[in-house]
Amino acid sequence: MKKILHVMASPRGTASISRQLGDSITAQLAVSNPGSIITTVDLNVNPFPHLFEAQIDALRIPADRLTEAQKELTKRSDEAIAQVLEADTIVISLPLYNFGIPSPLKSWIDNIARAGYTFSYGADGPKGLVEGKKVYIALASGGVFSEGPFKEYDFAVPYLKTVLGFMGITDVEVIRAEGTAVSGLMEHALERAIERIAV
Ligand SMILES: Cc1cc2nc3c(=O)[nH]c(=O)nc-3n(C[C@H](O)[C@H](O)[C@H](O)COP(=O)(O)O)c2cc1C
Repeated sequence: MKKILHVMASPRGTASISRQLGDSITAQLAVSNPGSIITTVDLNVNPFPHLFEAQIDALRIPADRLTEAQKELTKRSDEAIAQVLEADTIVISLPLYNFGIPSPLKSWIDNIARAGYTFSYGADGPKGLVEGKKVYIALASGGVFSEGPFKEYDFAVPYLKTVLGFMGITDVEVIRAEGTAVSGLMEHALERAIERIAV
């Protein structure tokens, strides 16, 4: 039994290729781990707003010193962090947007990467506090980035690995549905990605 969190970043709902790939990963995880509990977070439904000044201030104040108003400002961050900490396995599904991650996913990350909760600063520098998690990244892209001339143009995977690693999450597996805009690849991009899932 595992607690699986699927964080979905595409605005395209059930038509989304990355979401379908993420759903296939969670479904296979559930088969391999009977009794698993799957929680889904669609970042385009009730999205995390861009950070604003009062919220940034509140996010940096220790919980026992927050005013009631500040507690309201940290509430969604608290909830998102609790979901991450509770999960054994996290599936992040996203489309590649302009060589990076979609902004709703960035806003979610800005809410979960929080000093004192998911990382800390010590004498030896920053330390990730989130341990023992496995993350699957289900990435859909119009072009091909796993190999070839555009390999260096994918900033989403290096960024996600860096920021997840900063929080202590180093067991990250990437499954790509790529070439979704390339004739000859698009027809089977999702199917081929699903075939590569090994959980
Ligand atoms: C705003 C926007 C930016 C995009 N930027 C890229 C890009 O930089 N590289 C790429 O290969 N595809 C790009 N695409 C194509 C998507 O990554 C591709 O259609 C993907 O399969 C969509 O995934 P989804 O079905 O999960 O939403 C972009 C699409 C949109 C809407």
